[in-house]
Amino acid sequence: MTTPDTLPTPDTNFAINPVLWIEHKKQGNAHSEAEIMALVDAVMNGEMSDYQLAAWLMAVCFVGLTDDETVFLTKAFVESGQVLDLKGMGIEGITVDKHSTGGVGDKTTLVVAPLLAAAGLNVAKLSGRGLGFTGGTIDKLEAFPYFNVQPTQADFVKQIQEIGIALSAQTADLAPADGLFYALRDVTATVDNLSLIAASVMSKKIAAGADVIVLDIKVGCGAFMKTLDEAKALATLCKTIGERFDKRVETVISSMDAPLGNAIGHTTEILEVIDTLKGSGPKDLEDLCLCLAGMALVEAGQATTLGHATVALKELIGNGQAFDKLKQLVVAQGVDHEIFDDLHTLPQPSRLMMIPSPASGIVQSIDALKVAKAVKMMGGGRTKKDDVINLGVGVVLRCEVGESITENETLFELWSDKVNFEAAKSMVLDAIVIGEASVTPAPLILATSL
Ligand code: URA
Repeated sequence: MTTPDTLPTPDTNFAINPVLWIEHKKQGNAHSEAEIMALVDAVMNGEMSDYQLAAWLMAVCFVGLTDDETVFLTKAFVESGQVLDLKGMGIEGITVDKHSTGGVGDKTTLVVAPLLAAAGLNVAKLSGRGLGFTGGTIDKLEAFPYFNVQPTQADFVKQIQEIGIALSAQTADLAPADGLFYALRDVTATVDNLSLIAASVMSKKIAAGADVIVLDIKVGCGAFMKTLDEAKALATLCKTIGERFDKRVETVISSMDAPLGNAIGHTTEILEVIDTLKGSGPKDLEDLCLCLAGMALVEAGQATTLGHATVALKELIGNGQAFDKLKQLVVAQGVDHEIFDDLHTLPQPSRLMMIPSPASGIVQSIDALKVAKAVKMMGGGRTKKDDVINLGVGVVLRCEVGESITENETLFELWSDKVNFEAAKSMVLDAIVIGEASVTPAPLILATSL
């Protein structure tokens, strides 16, 4: 990687001393770039043990990192592995990437990426699997039988050159130090520090080589960020990091109190993605996708305003080009094109149950986290790293916040196999609050950087 001019050259002339680094941070001091680089190196080569790193991470949670330290940590993560030089590999034009901090029913990548490729941008997207209660794009794509989630680098590049879009699972070669830090944060209650999250997210995006990065920062009960202030601070920090690495970063802060769209699961979400790309998806999902894709188009110089971008993107949906791009992507990555003639060949559950409303009234709220837990308990998520996900199970919402419903009207479809059906049914019923008061649904898009 070329070091941006704004970063000083590190002085590496000192001894490796993890205990000193922990003490230094515990006392509220800031690390130099050289210390952070040495600390990450020491973690990579085993000179700093897991228990020492855990102590340092906890000190960071209490004391914090300055913006400079956060930039240094990002740089150290980036430099711990390979950095994709997309232009050097022959990909011409602007490449965009999009990242979500994770939510329930969040299938935006699978709508936004084909839309942007249909608009003529390169989309080189590295995605993850589900994390905690949140779903993962790579798991969702595996609902397409034989979808190759790990193309070789040569195939990845060739596919972008040919059809403008390729999606791959995150590889261990990019920002591997973040992988080590992340695994330890997950089990030491040190995930939710803004600097640690920003360095983790941005290091992977920077290593993946895109020019334009659009971040969807989720806030609410079904997200890692629980307050708007936290989400805004994370957005600002990610933009600051991006600027220091010469990346154009735009951010959207979106609500994740209720699930996004109606479908939560894998096959269920793929079907909703297809509907959305054909122009008949749920409005909240379409609005957020148009906003994320629109920000990328403006930042890439293909539209002057978000309004113009939205008109262009809607045209790509209306004339079928956006859906065609999804088909091209799926077929290029190993799936038989006939899948689109009969979508029942996607993984299916053994039973589909309609869950009726126990009362009449107005839907006050739908708790995204509880719906996600219901899907997970039916086998649609992992509790251990190597669990195999049941891609056919899921939940489809048949009501929305603010809607009037009558007793026995269907609230949810439960796509289930035999596992934990009754428990999942109780969980989704527990997720919904029905009351008397009229409710105006809270806005989905809470802030944007454009
Ligand atoms: N997603 C990441 O990649 N890293 C974090 O720390 C949190 C969410």
